[in-house]
Amino acid sequence: MGPPPSPWKGGAGDAWSLAEGWVFLNPGSFGLRLRSVQAHRQKLLEQMEAQPVAFLERVAPSLHEDAVATLSGFIGADAAGIGFVSNATEGVAAVLSSLGLSPGDTVLLGDQAYGAVVAACNWVTRGGVRRVPVSAPVARASDITDAWTAALRDRPTLAIVDHVTSGTAIVQPARDIAQACRAAGVPVLVDGAHAPGMIELEVDEVGADWYAGNLHKWVGAPSGAGFLWTAPPHRDTTRPVALSHDVADGYQAAFRWQGTRDVTPWLTVPHAIGEVRDRWGWPELRAWQRAMATWAGAYAAAELGTCTADASGGAMTAAMTSVALPDSASSAFEDRFALRDAIAARHRVEVAIDELCGRWWMRMSFGGWNTPEDVYAAVAAMQSCLARPDAVAAPV
Ligand SMILES: Cc1ncc(COP(=O)(O)O)c(C=O)c1O
Repeated sequence: MGPPPSPWKGGAGDAWSLAEGWVFLNPGSFGLRLRSVQAHRQKLLEQMEAQPVAFLERVAPSLHEDAVATLSGFIGADAAGIGFVSNATEGVAAVLSSLGLSPGDTVLLGDQAYGAVVAACNWVTRGGVRRVPVSAPVARASDITDAWTAALRDRPTLAIVDHVTSGTAIVQPARDIAQACRAAGVPVLVDGAHAPGMIELEVDEVGADWYAGNLHKWVGAPSGAGFLWTAPPHRDTTRPVALSHDVADGYQAAFRWQGTRDVTPWLTVPHAIGEVRDRWGWPELRAWQRAMATWAGAYAAAELGTCTADASGGAMTAAMTSVALPDSASSAFEDRFALRDAIAARHRVEVAIDELCGRWWMRMSFGGWNTPEDVYAAVAAMQSCLARPDAVAAPV
């Protein structure tokens, strides 16, 4: 199978704010912004700083309302349940604090759950994290649901399910797992840090109690744009981490004002959604990212003599792919970050390296600026670093 042809006539690379000279295969970590989105945000920022009272008290409220309405349509979530937060981390923290989790409570998370979320849950429960054994490679979505169904029998206080896993880049059957949680009587928070923009999302249909998401990763909004959606039964008791004037005035009011802060990332969300829609189309961008990730995973796995975390042939892949690294990787480098930084320093290639299920993985994630040459360069860079782990290059 060859790489998918680029649907962008004349290339799309210049539209993004990427520095020249990089093979950038890691928007999965912190996203990447369109230049026009950055410019729009900058204009709002200047307006805010030019007359903060006028902006925050008289201009921002209607822009905020517009941002919630646009996001509601984009992610398929009813607007009354949407509260903006800075990022998925803050959305998860809002649920943990609203539930008042404390020592003695337990939180069930997948084996591949994001480390920061695991750490936060372990902190509030003082070691109450329980894990669902889901190993990678994984061949069937139903294997993941079955593992969750079995683990739920221990009746944790809360379940947190990644919609798309970070390190292994697996699109998980969040809806089926949420259903299993409901059947077990366990409240469920879906951690959708990667899902908005990457997959076609219908939050209302997932059937979770809470859904936390990022808009800076795959929607291309500025850093600082995330949301927490809450199902109707929990809206009276779920609040943001920062409690302010309107905390007692309902869910939306409590999220609307969380103290003085830079609200421009939230207000830029309609622009970010509209830019991709008008330039390329969301379904088209998603389809191309998925085709690239599926092809790149198969290519890299063949070249490295390993496998992809998604062993279904691509049914659980969207815009990212994780490829197992040969065992020599972990013996040649002090830790995974040393390997990541060596590839960046020597080859100016940015990929993510993760350690999960007892091995190291190279995750490549794709945006509209990427080309098949980026994948060839990344695989060649990895092969070169593994062959000569001691070669030195200046840090980048
Ligand atoms: C599954 C998952 N949850 C949570 C996060 C945290 O996201 P943020 O740092 O934007 O809060 C990430 C970040 O990559 C993630 O992949």
